[in-house]
Amino acid sequence: MESIEQEIKQLTEDLNRHTYYYYMLDAPVISDYEFDRLLRRLQDLERQYPQFVQPDSPTQRVGGSVTKKFATLEHVYPMLSLGNTYSEEELLEFDGRIKQLVSSEIEYACELKYDGLAISLRYENGLLTHAVTRGDGVKGDEVTANVKTIKSVPLRLQGDDYPPLFEVRGEILMPFARFETLNREREDIGEPPFANPRNAASGTLKLQESAEVARRGLDFRLYYVMGDHLPYSTHYDSILKLKSWGFKVPDVIQKASGITEVIDFMHYWDVERKKLDFPIDGIVIKVNDFALQQQLGMTAKNPRWAIAYKFKAEKMSTPLLSIDYQVGRTGIVTPVANLEPVPLAGTIVKRATLHNADVMAALDIREGDHLFVEKGGEIIPKIVGVDLDKRPVDARPIQFVTHCPECGTPLQRNEDEAGTFCPNELHCPPQIKGRLEHFISRRAMNLDSLGEGKVEILFERGLVKNIADFYDLSFNQLLGIEKQFPAEEGKPARVVSFREKTVERILAGISQTREVPFERVLFAIGIRYVGETTAKKLARHFKTIDALANATKEELLEVNDVGDRVADSIIAYFNQPDNLEILLRLRNAGLRFEAGEAENEPVSQVLEGKNIVVSGVFTISRDEMKKKIEQYGGKNVSSISKNTAFVLAGEKMGPEKRKKAESLGIPVISEDDFMKMIQES
Ligand code: IVH
Repeated sequence: MESIEQEIKQLTEDLNRHTYYYYMLDAPVISDYEFDRLLRRLQDLERQYPQFVQPDSPTQRVGGSVTKKFATLEHVYPMLSLGNTYSEEELLEFDGRIKQLVSSEIEYACELKYDGLAISLRYENGLLTHAVTRGDGVKGDEVTANVKTIKSVPLRLQGDDYPPLFEVRGEILMPFARFETLNREREDIGEPPFANPRNAASGTLKLQESAEVARRGLDFRLYYVMGDHLPYSTHYDSILKLKSWGFKVPDVIQKASGITEVIDFMHYWDVERKKLDFPIDGIVIKVNDFALQQQLGMTAKNPRWAIAYKFKAEKMSTPLLSIDYQVGRTGIVTPVANLEPVPLAGTIVKRATLHNADVMAALDIREGDHLFVEKGGEIIPKIVGVDLDKRPVDARPIQFVTHCPECGTPLQRNEDEAGTFCPNELHCPPQIKGRLEHFISRRAMNLDSLGEGKVEILFERGLVKNIADFYDLSFNQLLGIEKQFPAEEGKPARVVSFREKTVERILAGISQTREVPFERVLFAIGIRYVGETTAKKLARHFKTIDALANATKEELLEVNDVGDRVADSIIAYFNQPDNLEILLRLRNAGLRFEAGEAENEPVSQVLEGKNIVVSGVFTISRDEMKKKIEQYGGKNVSSISKNTAFVLAGEKMGPEKRKKAESLGIPVISEDDFMKMIQES
């Protein structure tokens, strides 16, 4: 029998190879299930025999370590930045300057300019040893544990012709899909959303908890390598070499012979960037040949052999018509500018957020102003300033509202927080409505029979004033209710009416929420700052709502993820008599206020990010099966494509589906195997 140390080494090597197949080559050779099984085996062994943990262990990808304060580390080679331009002429000038210094025809390498934050990865003898942010270019923050969670960053290199010490430079970024999910989650718990994927990426990289970094799904694009005696002589070849060492190299990199081809590349990507699933803000042009790069050298700040062309965000000045103050579910008041409509980068812009009182004050917006609105690659228009040439004389400053526009309560603002909020949590209409909508939302009680404006109607008619009222609704109360909704942007006018079938479905849906596990009920009741993950952790820690309600602050702080702010909010929630009354009514209605068996298992997201097709008949109903998939983080999709992770096949699975799965190489998994997969997780 091989030694434990041997087994750990073997598992580490195998898992790293499979990660490479999966993330770098997009061609997995073992199932995700098998991968997870091996990873768990390795985790178990490492726990028992920490002395054998390998420096490139793939278990670092899931995170877990907590960094209290990042160390400062000097870069082996300073991190330079590039000269920027927005104009084609300056690109021609750049080419002209180079031609003056070197007489030959210039070959360029063209790349995308990724919109994230720069990182330097130091590899020593093939192992990733340090990841450091740009900082001031000479030294930066060491964020190694966080960077190791990024799957496209290799922990150990392949081959044997890499130099003993070198640094790879690249950009850490957040793909759009991850950015949107993250912001939705933040809004759920009353945290301000990130303004763009770049801020989200840099905020994430500076988190102290690497497990949270892992969850957020950052990505990495490399663009440069620094070292002595590197085995190639052009930038383009360096990228190919890096690929052979196991790096995921960018899909887009193009050699251009002469500036005209560079300009074609630039025009092409100015349009095509809208189809990318990650953010870019321009292109980067580099002289391909290293000897020429050397010859060209540096100016004081930047290399002479490279330049960044930034795409212009389209910008217009337009009159400010008025400012709306919107009150969200958590009471946060957001100012939104209503603008004279302007066409910008393909759409008509009529409104743009002003974020909060600080942003408004910094812009110094006055009555009657014209505002500059900008729209770049991102979909969201942004107000970037005031058109002072058009400011009326004696224009009066605009004060942020002092009272809630919905309920008249004086607004409050906490020290150190940007947001202004309405404290009238219990009686402010949008806050009540927001809580009702949150309660029925998919990730909470999943009451989809009440969606599409129906909750709004029940609220307006006074039938539902708080979440407990759902459980007192009767057939006769609901039957025959009707409301006309006028046409809105992108949506035609419509009538919502509560017919017999609809009402039956609603009542059945409400009744089914009695099966919703405690952890989701805890998320659904809407305690401020308690998001989905925190609710799960609380449910598993305290097991019952009574234990949670009686917990002291110290006890709350014992839960991983719970800090001062969350603990205070939980205590405040259970100190509020109205909340206790609602909880009592929900309990009497039969909702689950205790963790069931499933919730005693550790939180599992085995199916996270997986699209799963369910086909055939199972020992449980298909709906239950689909719920299970969601419970473990998976997503139900109806048809098989190359993005399907696997097909979950019951009895009598359709032959067409099976054929399609086979032709695309999608695994087909039986109910038994599926159950094992989620139970073992
Ligand atoms: S090359 C000496 N290539 O843009 C070469 N930079 O100032 C240094 N960036 O700090 C950079 N995409 O964070 C290069 N394809 C790319 C890039 C890129 C994004 C960032 C990088 C750099 C800034 C330019």
